[in-house]
Amino acid sequence: MAHAFPSFLLLIFSSNIIFENIHACNQSERSSLLFLALTLSPPQLNWTSADCCNWEGITCNRDGWVTHLQLPSKGLKLKGGIFPSSSLANLTHLTHLNLSHNSLSGSLDQTEFFLSLNDLEILDLSYNLLIGVLPSSLPSSHIRMVDLSSNRLHGAVSSSFFQQAWNLTSFNVSNNTFSGPIPSSICRPPSSSLRHLDFSFNNFNGSISSGLGRCSKLQVFRAGHNYLSGSLPEDMFNFTTLEEISLPQNSLYGAVSDKISNLTNLTTLDLSYNQLSGVLPLHLGKLSKLKHILLDFNYLEGSLPLSLMNCTNLVELRLGTNNLGGDLSMLNFSKLSQLSKLGLRKNNFFGILPRSIYSCKFLKAIHVNYNNLEVQIQPEILSLKSLSYLSLGSNKGLTNLTGAMKILMGCKRLVLVSLGSSFLGEEMPNGVEMADFNGFQNLRHLDLSSCNLSGIIPSWLSKLKMLQVLGLSHNRITGSIPSWLGTLPRLQTLFMDFNQLSGEFPKELCTLPMLVSAQTVTQVGRFYLELPVYYHPSADAKPLQYNYIPYVPVIYLSHNRLSGNIPIEIGQLQLLRVLDLSANNFSGNIPDQISNLKNIEILDLSMNHLSGKIPASFTSLNFLSSFNVSYNNLRGPIPSSTQLQSFNASAFEGNLKLCGAPLPNKCQTTKGVDAPDMSTQDAGTKEHQIPWFYVFVTLGCITGFWGVCGPLVLMRKWRHAYYHFLDNVKDRFHVMIAKRMASIKRRFV
Ligand SMILES: *[C@@H]1O[C@H](CO)[C@@H](O)[C@H](O)[C@H]1NC(C)=O
Ligand SMILES: *[C@@H]1O[C@H](CO)[C@@H](O)[C@H](O)[C@H]1NC(C)=O
Ligand SMILES: *[C@@H]1O[C@H](CO)[C@@H](O)[C@H](O)[C@H]1NC(C)=O
Ligand SMILES: *[C@@H]1O[C@H](CO)[C@@H](O)[C@H](O)[C@H]1NC(C)=O
Ligand SMILES: *[C@@H]1O[C@H](CO)[C@@H](O)[C@H](O)[C@H]1NC(C)=O
Ligand SMILES: *[C@@H]1O[C@H](CO)[C@@H](O)[C@H](O)[C@H]1NC(C)=O
Ligand SMILES: *[C@@H]1O[C@H](CO)[C@@H](O)[C@H](O)[C@H]1NC(C)=O
Ligand SMILES: *[C@@H]1O[C@H](CO)[C@@H](O)[C@H](O)[C@H]1NC(C)=O
Ligand SMILES: *[C@@H]1O[C@H](CO)[C@@H](O)[C@H](O)[C@H]1NC(C)=O
Ligand SMILES: *[C@@H]1O[C@H](CO)[C@@H](O)[C@H](O)[C@H]1NC(C)=O
Ligand SMILES: *[C@@H]1O[C@H](CO)[C@@H](O)[C@H](O)[C@H]1NC(C)=O
Ligand SMILES: *[C@@H]1O[C@H](CO)[C@@H](O)[C@H](O)[C@H]1NC(C)=O
Repeated sequence: MAHAFPSFLLLIFSSNIIFENIHACNQSERSSLLFLALTLSPPQLNWTSADCCNWEGITCNRDGWVTHLQLPSKGLKLKGGIFPSSSLANLTHLTHLNLSHNSLSGSLDQTEFFLSLNDLEILDLSYNLLIGVLPSSLPSSHIRMVDLSSNRLHGAVSSSFFQQAWNLTSFNVSNNTFSGPIPSSICRPPSSSLRHLDFSFNNFNGSISSGLGRCSKLQVFRAGHNYLSGSLPEDMFNFTTLEEISLPQNSLYGAVSDKISNLTNLTTLDLSYNQLSGVLPLHLGKLSKLKHILLDFNYLEGSLPLSLMNCTNLVELRLGTNNLGGDLSMLNFSKLSQLSKLGLRKNNFFGILPRSIYSCKFLKAIHVNYNNLEVQIQPEILSLKSLSYLSLGSNKGLTNLTGAMKILMGCKRLVLVSLGSSFLGEEMPNGVEMADFNGFQNLRHLDLSSCNLSGIIPSWLSKLKMLQVLGLSHNRITGSIPSWLGTLPRLQTLFMDFNQLSGEFPKELCTLPMLVSAQTVTQVGRFYLELPVYYHPSADAKPLQYNYIPYVPVIYLSHNRLSGNIPIEIGQLQLLRVLDLSANNFSGNIPDQISNLKNIEILDLSMNHLSGKIPASFTSLNFLSSFNVSYNNLRGPIPSSTQLQSFNASAFEGNLKLCGAPLPNKCQTTKGVDAPDMSTQDAGTKEHQIPWFYVFVTLGCITGFWGVCGPLVLMRKWRHAYYHFLDNVKDRFHVMIAKRMASIKRRFV
């Protein structure tokens, strides 16, 4: 210790001397940097001292040449001039340029700057606002790393770009709008040094040509979320160095070759959302380092290879929505001790869901619904201490709901429980056995729909303070809607249609905080799930995938026996998007206050005993995309608005005293006051019919029910990031809208 201290001082002293010696900033470079600073706006770079080598973000070499210019995340914006400023071209000794995470706009091919950086090794301009196409080639033969990701660059990435890039190890252009084929000549023999390639989130198309096989050191290959087609290139299976293949969301077809078992260092295989077919590689189990297998949404068939159970490092196994099958009880999961996510939904698996899955102690998510599995909830499930996502519905033989609930109560982490189409005909657990209920403290999503359950809405639900989504549709639930439902602080999505509920619409339901206060919605925020959930926006639309619990503010109460007036308090549900009260016994007037529901998109009051007029204020419901008041006792003229008149006559039929467009019967002009008013507005409507229709469609789309339609059209990236359109017809998860439409159709047939 006594000796170490002085020598430490000496070290500082001597390094200081070197420091003084090496930094002698070239005045020409200094002025170039100052020129650059002039074109940028805030912050004020403290670039004042004489020696530019001491400036923030600048490093010089021993001879005083600027070698590093590193100003990431400095909020840099272009104040004037163009970026990259040609003044940078004077920094001819620059080896490291890192200006990532700024707001720099400009185009790389517009200035000579880029091509003059002949010593450049590291180029990171990611997360800026660069536009335009790539320059004809990389500036330097020393270049090792290029990150241009998350900009707005477009055009092709031509092979010539890499002409002299002998030492390139990492190339990332993800999250731009590049198009054309993936440049295969990026791998230059004899010894390409490329290790990381990321082309994802662009518009690349064509097939992946075979040249990539020459990247003999490639470790990470990502090109997901593009328009790539064709089959997986054979020579991909030659580079045994590969650790990650991520090509999700393309149109790749053909089989996954068994040669993949050569890639013994592979840890991630993501080929989800493609059109791959054939059976799973028989020797997949040779890939003992595999952690993530994502093959969902393909057309894979056959059974799971037994060898899969040799992938002992597996964390995530996602094979949902394929044509896979086979007897799952043949598999022994006990070696998969790291398994955290098991997604097998929508396949044809049968047999008993093996008890060995309970030995996967880290399991967080089990998603096996829509198979033919024999599932029972066993007390062993309590050994899965991290279980938060449990979706077992639409399988065979799930019985004893009361027993199941008693067990699941002990799973303290559960967030999502989806057990629809099970427990057929049993009673809703509500007896003494539920009296001491204190589980589900984290439950946000409970689906028990299509179970044909009898009994009443049980009071233990009132303890689920986190509940956001409650699905009880298609049961035989009787009794009234309890008023405490309105006190659940996070309830936002209520599916209770097709039951035998009676009594009135409880006023308390009109105070649900998540349907009343946008501030509450913001506070609750997004809760991300271990595996996605799927929702059907409408009968004929494809289901949407969410990897969080989406905010779907809806109340479905159709096909029950509810009666009495629709409470005027309903107008408080400002955020509601769907109100379906059809096929009940509601009577009285339609409350004027419904027109306060400024976000309402689907309003169905059909098949009740409502009387009086359609409130004139309905003309202000701008976002309506579906409206139905048919088969009531309504009378008088249909209020004139481009909105209401844009619906089919069928939305109004079955109300004998209702008149005016779009119904064929004209209103009697007995009341001299109404008549002229009507006809002028009518004329106006017709005149503007076509333009208004389009305006309506556009509005309805941009702010659409799911809040996605507009952005989907406008921003492909966004769509990719959050939603996946799925090919699918028989998905039963919350397909209530479909059911509703079907039943109305039946009535009309
Ligand atoms: C400074 O750099 C310029 C070229 O950028 C060069 O012409 C000049 O000789 C250099 N000055 C010194 C003192 O090295
Ligand atoms: C770049 O250097 C040249 C001479 O080396 C000089 O004439 C020119 O002004 C410099 N450019 C900038 C922007 O400083
Ligand atoms: C600017 O940098 C100099 C040294 O390079 C330092 O003395 C001065 O305090 C800095 N000013 C600010 C505002 O940071
Ligand atoms: C650029 O700087 C950011 C922020 O410090 C850093 O995360 C990134 O790795 C750097 N880029 C390179 C290529 O080193
Ligand atoms: C490429 O890298 C090797 C090894 O690091 C080095 O010897 C060689 O000079 C580099 N080539 C170029 C053109 O930079
Ligand atoms: C490429 O850049 C993106 C950010 O734009 C990053 O998320 C991704 O991990 C990078 N790819 C590789 C292979 O490092
Ligand atoms: C793509 O870039 C945008 C803008 O820079 C960024 O907000 C977004 O997170 C990026 N997306 C991905 C998937 O990296
Ligand atoms: C792949 O590897 C095999 C055997 O190592 C070799 O014969 C073949 O030429 C390679 N294919 C390509 C395209 O490199
Ligand atoms: C596989 O990975 C290990 C450890 O990272 C490495 O030593 C080995 O060289 C890799 N094998 C191949 C074929 O790249
Ligand atoms: C790849 O695996 C196949 C069998 O699956 C084998 O015939 C071939 O030799 C392997 N190639 C390499 C390069 O290891
Ligand atoms: C799994 O691995 C063991 C030991 O490495 C091996 O004996 C067995 O054949 C493998 N099973 C399958 C189905 O590949
Ligand atoms: C249901 O499960 C509970 C607890 O597991 C058990 O006590 C009860 O006997 C079961 N009921 C039936 C009908 O199987």
